Amino acid sequence: MTQTTHELLPETARIFVAGHRGLVGSAVTRRLAADGHEVVTRDRDELDLRDAARTESFLRDVRPDAVVLAAAKVGGIMANSTYPVQFLEDNLRIQLSVIAGAHAAGAGRLLFLGSSCIYPKLAPQPIREDALLTGPLEPTNEPYALAKIAGITQIRAYRRQYGASYISAMPTNLYGPGDNFDLETSHVLPALIRRFHEAGESGAPEVTLWGTGTPRREFLHVDDLAAACAVLLRSYDGDDPVNVGCGEDLTIRELAETVREVTGYPGRIAFDATRPDGTPRKLLDISRISALGWKPRIPLRDGIAAVYAGWRAGAAA
Ligand SMILES: NC(=O)c1ccc[n+]([C@@H]2O[C@H](COP(=O)([O-])OP(=O)(O)OC[C@H]3O[C@@H](n4cnc5c(N)ncnc54)[C@H](OP(=O)(O)O)[C@@H]3O)[C@@H](O)[C@H]2O)c1
Repeated sequence: MTQTTHELLPETARIFVAGHRGLVGSAVTRRLAADGHEVVTRDRDELDLRDAARTESFLRDVRPDAVVLAAAKVGGIMANSTYPVQFLEDNLRIQLSVIAGAHAAGAGRLLFLGSSCIYPKLAPQPIREDALLTGPLEPTNEPYALAKIAGITQIRAYRRQYGASYISAMPTNLYGPGDNFDLETSHVLPALIRRFHEAGESGAPEVTLWGTGTPRREFLHVDDLAAACAVLLRSYDGDDPVNVGCGEDLTIRELAETVREVTGYPGRIAFDATRPDGTPRKLLDISRISALGWKPRIPLRDGIAAVYAGWRAGAAA
C-alpha cells in the first residue's frame, strides 16, 4: 500500500530523532527543526538505546508523533572486522528498543535508516530496492548488514501485523558536516580529505591510495539525505525501503582528484594495485524517491569544499 498524503506527518508533529549527534541524525535534526517541527533528542549518556525498558519508558513519557531511527553502531571495514559482535548485537538491540518502544508509546510514524551496503555484494547496477535479500552479502560487514536487514524486516512486520505507518530508507555513501575524520574508523571521503590535507602540510610528494582507482562509487551530502527523509516522512507509506542516492557515480581516481584540488595538495596521486579494490560499482537506482519529487541539490565538489572548510575550522578551534 502506498499513500501520498502530507497528512502522514502534520506540521505540528513532535519528532524524536535517535542518534541526533551522528552524521545523519544531526542533519535530520537540523532539517526537521528548520521545517518547524518540535524535535526531541537525548544524549547517549542519558539514554542508552540498547536498553529496551528505559527506551520504552522515555518514549511513553515524551509521546512523539514520529521517530527517526538514525542511531546505530557504524564504522568502516576495520571496525566491522574487529567488532563483529557489537556491530550485530548493538544494532539489533537499538532497533528492537526503538521500534518496539515507539509502537508501544503510540508513535504513528517511524523512519528507519538502512544502508546501501546491505544489498547483495553482486547486486545488478544500478541497485533497485527489490535486490534486497537476493544474494550473498559482502562478507566484511555481514553482521552489520544482517542486523540492518532485521531492522527492515521488523519495520515490514509492524506494518503487516499492526498496520503501523513505519518505513525504511536506504541511503548511499554519505558525507557532510561533523563527519568522522579518524583514519582508523572513517569512511573513504573524510579519510581522503585528511590524507591530502596532511600530505600538503608535511610536503609529501605523493599520496598512495589502495587499489586501482577504477571502482565507481556515489556520494550524497547528508543535508540532501535529510531533505529526502523529510519528504519520505511526509509522503511515503509503503512496505519497500526507498533508496536515497545522487543518481550518478564517479571513480575513486576522480574522487581523489577532486579532493586533491579542493585541499590544494600539489603532489601526485599513486595507486597501489596490489591492494583490494572491492566491488567494481555501487550505484543506487533512485527512481522511487525521484518520483516523490526529491532530488539532490549539493554538487559533490561544493559539498567537499564545505566539509573541508568546516573540518579545518574545527581542527583550528
Ligand atoms: N554515514 C554513511 O555513509 C551512511 C550511509 C548509509 C546509511 N547510513 C545509516 O545512517 C545511520 C546513522 O549513521 P551515521 O553515519 O550518522 O552514524 P554516526 O555518525 O556514527 O552516528 C550514530 C549515532 O548513533 C548514536 N548511538 C550509537 N549507539 C547508541 C546507543 N547505544 N545509544 C544511544 N545512541 C547511540 C551515536 O551516539 P554518540 O554520538 O553518543 O556516539 C551517534 O549519535 C545508520 O543506520 C547507518 O547505517 C549511514
